Amino acid sequence: MSISQLAREIKESPTLVFNEKARILKDRGEPVIHLGSGEPKSKTPLDAILHCTATLKTANIHYTATEGIPPLLKAICRYTEEHYDKTIMPENILVSSGGAKQAIFNLMMSIIDPQDEVIILAPYWVSYTEIVKMVHGIPVIVTPEDGRFEPRIEDIIKSVSSYTKAIMVNSPNNPSGCIYSDDLIGQLVEFCESKGIYLIMDDIYHQLYFGFHKPVSVYKFTDKSVDNSKIIVINGISKAYAMTGFRIGWAIANRDVTQAMRNVSAQNTSCPSVVLQSAAVGALNGIQSGVESLRLTLENNKNIMMRELRAFSGVKVTEPQGTFYCLPDFSAYNTSSAELSKYLLEKALVVTVPGGEFGFEGHLRLSYCGSVSEMIEGIDRIKWALDENSPNEIYIGERKMRRNWK
Ligand SMILES: Cc1ncc(COP(=O)(O)O)c(C=O)c1O
Repeated sequence: MSISQLAREIKESPTLVFNEKARILKDRGEPVIHLGSGEPKSKTPLDAILHCTATLKTANIHYTATEGIPPLLKAICRYTEEHYDKTIMPENILVSSGGAKQAIFNLMMSIIDPQDEVIILAPYWVSYTEIVKMVHGIPVIVTPEDGRFEPRIEDIIKSVSSYTKAIMVNSPNNPSGCIYSDDLIGQLVEFCESKGIYLIMDDIYHQLYFGFHKPVSVYKFTDKSVDNSKIIVINGISKAYAMTGFRIGWAIANRDVTQAMRNVSAQNTSCPSVVLQSAAVGALNGIQSGVESLRLTLENNKNIMMRELRAFSGVKVTEPQGTFYCLPDFSAYNTSSAELSKYLLEKALVVTVPGGEFGFEGHLRLSYCGSVSEMIEGIDRIKWALDENSPNEIYIGERKMRRNWK
């Protein structure tokens, strides 16, 4: 079998691998608890459904313009004005039919030359490194000191070389739930503008913040128009609108980069489905109460998750400020997160995602976007499997399980 060198170097997506493992176990009737999930369970917003069914009913479903249908481009302009206080034009937008993930891919294809470096801040979303490799770039990882989730600007600057093309920022952050300080974002804008480096903001979770931790608009720190700027914003409907299955995302950039991305897109997926784009128009322009209610539900879930984890001896947890993930430190139990994750799936039937996959060994990513009862039971099972002080016996589904290992 002849597989390209590049394809051989691309890792399987660990989050999708864990989803698949959970599905297989569930299909077998095993009482598995999924704390690895990457999507809210809420229903699709009604306005999205109404828009998309109205489009379907026209029975006029054909190719669209590569960049996206005009009503969606208009809705994204309005959304950007509302959430970022920034005026953009349709010419600054590329809609993608493979979610925010594909928007990032099209962007990287458009700005990275072989050997260019992209700075990625750990802990990081698993796909960044692989996407950069897929376009023959080099991921350069910056890891914060002392187990903190926010790197220092000095450490980021130290990693910059003459090959640095872009710095990738994801705040609120998957997997830590950390929202980077306004100071850091401001310093990054200033630094990138002075060096002519792209600053890519993956803002897919920007509406999912807790309390007063609203993420700052990156544009607040620049006077430049989008057309004169190297700031790029990635977003989509997957997380805040719980519309992961619609696969609509977008990138906002200056016209030159946008045109390059449109060319790239035109030669691969092109023409995002008009049905799915109509759903996105409905979501963005429709009643927004679903987003607020999801945000509040997640905040409540996060509080419960924190309560459970704080009562878990040996586990260190930093409270998330947004998203639906946390990244507690389990290194007191096992320094290899992959081994620990495997062990918890075998012994306790709980799916977690190893922190090593996000560049943070010794940690596990736990999601709190599922039901509260499952979350509590999941943590109880993990405690039972790891903590010698917890009761020796537990029910997993109908089965009474006895801990017979150290
Ligand atoms: C940080 C981050 N960026 C982008 C994406 C991709 O989103 P989409 O489902 O819209 O492709 C995800 C999905 O998990 C994510 O966590």
